[in-house]
Amino acid sequence: MRLRTGVEHLIRRPCPADLAFAHTRSPQPVATACTSAASVIDSTIVARPAGGRPTWTALDRGGLMLQKNQDACLPLQSPAAAIPLAHSVPAYLDTYYWWAYVHPQAVRVFERQWLANAILWGNYARLRDSALAEFDATLKGRTLQVACAYGDLTNRLCTRLPERGGTLDVVDVLPIQLDNLRRKLPASDRVRLHTMDSSALGFADASFDRVLLFFLLHEQPREVRIATLAEAWRVVKPGGRIVIVDYALPDRANPLRYLFRPVLAALEPFALDLWKSEIAQWLPPPARAAVRKETCFGGLYQKIVLTR
Ligand SMILES: C[S@@+](CC[C@H](N)C(=O)[O-])C[C@H]1O[C@@H](n2cnc3c(N)ncnc32)[C@H](O)[C@@H]1O
Repeated sequence: MRLRTGVEHLIRRPCPADLAFAHTRSPQPVATACTSAASVIDSTIVARPAGGRPTWTALDRGGLMLQKNQDACLPLQSPAAAIPLAHSVPAYLDTYYWWAYVHPQAVRVFERQWLANAILWGNYARLRDSALAEFDATLKGRTLQVACAYGDLTNRLCTRLPERGGTLDVVDVLPIQLDNLRRKLPASDRVRLHTMDSSALGFADASFDRVLLFFLLHEQPREVRIATLAEAWRVVKPGGRIVIVDYALPDRANPLRYLFRPVLAALEPFALDLWKSEIAQWLPPPARAAVRKETCFGGLYQKIVLTR
């Protein structure tokens, strides 16, 4: 079968329940299956067979995702024929953050509260509490944390869930990070973890009361960051709140403006985008008017609060 390749555009529509793909560029063929039409969300056409039906990136209920920008996809006969499932790691994580998140030893090294605190120049608790302070003391309804974080951020969210009538969903694109988070959290049917890309969330429009993005945007290339923000805006309910905590350009009097720049440039190449531009400019236009911004630690960190 001849395939015309290339990302064409983002659309949202159900995927046939029997659709399954083989990823042909991988050395080990990777396969995934959309096992339920209801669970399939934002899809990107990645290849359109000449005269055939298009193939897609898609998420199934387990959050399995076929890699974007792949060369070609071949439909499998049936989901049952799918070979062992594998997860795609976004290229920017593999290239720039393998040491922090992707490598099997990363969690063992970095999952230390004191280290997370040191990386944030001693501001972990301050930033965590500042983010949490934007939400009600009791998190009724649905809360979404977009991407895991080292440290006890998610545990703190969990302690605010009511016995009934409150759930927490956490998404991350790396199963190793979700496994680590699962080990940190108390067992609870009120908390659900999803392997999912922040730029293509598998949730319905307006399905969350609040969304938290804690130090995620600075790790993402611009186009992924824009898609992540659009998704956060899409899934939050009218009247719901989005809280973003991340880097910002330090004040001129802050020595970190000069000392930290080469560190970020070397280790976190997309982070300096947040020094050059306002997060608001990457938001969907209707969201831009809803922005409240605060900074702390000489401007190095910012908190953005959006009410939809
Ligand atoms: C939210 S940031 C947190 C960084 C911060 N230094 C910390 O740990 O407190 C790191 C997480 O983002 C996840 N991540 C990066 N890109 C993602 C994406 N496109 N979708 C979902 N999760 C993503 C990584 O897998 C990692 O677990």
